[in-house]
Amino acid sequence: MSQATVRAADALVIFGITGDLARKMTFHALYRLEAAGRLDCPIMGVAREDWSDDHLRGAVKDAVGAAEQAVDQAALERLGARLSYLRGDFADPALYQELADRLKGASTPLFYLEIPPALFAPVTVALGRADLTARGRVMVEKPFGHDLASAQALNGELHQVLGEEQILRIDHFLGKQPVLDILYLRFANALLEPVWNRDHVAAVQVTLAEDFGVEDRGAFYDPVGALRDVVQNHLLQVLALIAMEAPPGSGPGGLWDQRAEVFRAMAQVDPARCVRGQYEGYTKIPGVADGSETETYVALRLAVDSGRWAGVPFFIRAGKALAAKATEVRVIFKRPPRLAFLDEPHHTDPNQLVLRIDPDPSLRLAMLSKGPEGTSSRDVHLDLPFAAELGKPPEPYERLLHDALVGDRSLFTREDSVEETWRILQPLLDHPPAVVPYAPGSWGPPQANELLKGHSPWQPPWLPVSGVSGN
Ligand code: BG6
Repeated sequence: MSQATVRAADALVIFGITGDLARKMTFHALYRLEAAGRLDCPIMGVAREDWSDDHLRGAVKDAVGAAEQAVDQAALERLGARLSYLRGDFADPALYQELADRLKGASTPLFYLEIPPALFAPVTVALGRADLTARGRVMVEKPFGHDLASAQALNGELHQVLGEEQILRIDHFLGKQPVLDILYLRFANALLEPVWNRDHVAAVQVTLAEDFGVEDRGAFYDPVGALRDVVQNHLLQVLALIAMEAPPGSGPGGLWDQRAEVFRAMAQVDPARCVRGQYEGYTKIPGVADGSETETYVALRLAVDSGRWAGVPFFIRAGKALAAKATEVRVIFKRPPRLAFLDEPHHTDPNQLVLRIDPDPSLRLAMLSKGPEGTSSRDVHLDLPFAAELGKPPEPYERLLHDALVGDRSLFTREDSVEETWRILQPLLDHPPAVVPYAPGSWGPPQANELLKGHSPWQPPWLPVSGVSGN
């Protein structure tokens, strides 16, 4: 189906609307869309809990009130008028009949599955049996599979009922403005493109550090771990945008193809090039198994064996309970040659380009300049805070929900990419290195530094002025 023939959704049905994700993300995203005049269909929530339409409206109001300083009451009213609630058991065919009755008249419904992954396939198949998927779309949350075989199986099951063009696999990192900006920064700036390759780049470091632990998500997190939670999806998608070639045309196909090419050029990860850590105290969290070996920190070295990147290491680290919250991509360029005119000819730092994804998305170019006295050199920074320059962008879920409603699939992930990312990581799932402990509030296990031997060490993330700094 070409983008031109795609029809906007005429109903939104959210399975699992009583859950955490809805409370933390979906309600607020819907409100923002409503306030911006970008919603125009009824919204039905489906879940097992004994809620009423009014209970749902109250939950939305509470969530919006908690997230916004000044609530647009008229928008909240309009949103409330779109909402209805259907209670039912996802395994009961009667639920889908009831849904079909209520959806009479809707020809392109969007079903958003915010439910445990084990239910993605059975719910989709049941929607198909009730004749609800002929022209609709189904959006599924992460995680999409828990290894290569399960991702392939899930794709197979969804495809029994849906064409690939009807499936929207969500990865909220692909809705983040600075992540979208990678394409523009790289290819729309003739200054950057010529140096974005193995001739000029020494290494790339990608960091997703969180200064909070697993808290009340023990039962969800323990069977998952950092690798599956944020590396297989979010960080590998970011890496693909950093490493890919420019899409040759408009529309999502080229973008997907280029990202998939990056994954195809990546060998499976070597478990010897991975460090898994677990913060002290993790096993005491409710929902976490006694003696759990789940990693709350992971660092790994990856490679993209393409003409552009052969020989350049891509280092990724992600962890909970670290010293600060920071997500960034850091491109470290090669050092300049020995500069005889300087006081210390060998002591020049390499240029670095830092894309801070969170918090406060910004771009930094670290350069060398002349110190005020003599012939010494000094590190200086050219900083670009995006929001100050460009205004506040839509939030990721707001953007992705809107795209799903209008049927724009560009920012969702395609079947082959998802399977490729699992293929790359599969050796780590089969032969995980032992977890090593680290202190909460630190930068993770010191063993992670060994991975970078011979390269610039992990750089302290660039934090906003009010943040904690250091490595
Ligand atoms: C989610 C993970 O997908 O991404 C969480 O399940 C993680 O564990 C979150 O905290 C990070 O996303 P963001 O947008 O908050 O940086």
